[in-house]
Amino acid sequence: MSAPAGPGAATIPSEDEIHALVHGFYAKIRADKELGPIFNGAIADWDPHLAKMCAFWSSVMRMSGRYHGNPMAAHLRLKGVDSAHFGRWLSLFGATAHELLRPELAAAFEARAKTIARSLELGMFYRPGLERPPLGETA
Ligand code: HEM
Repeated sequence: MSAPAGPGAATIPSEDEIHALVHGFYAKIRADKELGPIFNGAIADWDPHLAKMCAFWSSVMRMSGRYHGNPMAAHLRLKGVDSAHFGRWLSLFGATAHELLRPELAAAFEARAKTIARSLELGMFYRPGLERPPLGETA
C-alpha cells in the first residue's frame, strides 16, 4: 500500500510503513536491557499488542480512527517506570524510524512520539509544586 498523494503526503505513512516501524521498534524494545523487562513483564501475548500499536499509529499519523483505547490508563497501571525510561523509549523509537523510513517521515513520527510521551509522562509523574527539567534533559 503506498502513501496517499497530495499536500503533506511525505509525512503521512502507509499502513505498511507503520507495520514495519512498529514491529522493528518493539523487536528492539524487547531486547533492550532497561525497557525489555518492563514490557515483557506486562505483555504476555505480543501479537495483539503489536496490532494495537499499528492501529494507534495509524490513527495518529493517518487519522484513520483505527485505535480505540486509553493510553494514559494503560501507562498509569505500570510499575517501575521512571522519567529516564521515556528518554530511552524515544531514543530507540527515533533510531528505528530513521533506520526504516525516509528522513522527513521519520522526523514526523519522532515529533508526534515526543509530544505524546511528554503528555503521558506528565500524567504519570507530574505533581504540582515538583520542579523537574523537560523531557529529554534527564535521560
Ligand atoms: C517509558 C516509556 C513507555 C513504557 C515503559 C511503555 C509501556 C507500555 C506497556 C507495558 C504497554 C502495555 C500495557 C498493557 O497492555 O497493559 C503499553 C501500551 C501502550 N503504549 Fe506505551 N510505554 C511507554 C511509552 C509510550 C509512548 C511514548 C507511547 C506513544 C507515543 C505509548 C503508546 C502506547 C499505547 C497506545 C499503548 C496501548 C494502550 C491500550 O491498551 O490501548 N507508550 N505501553
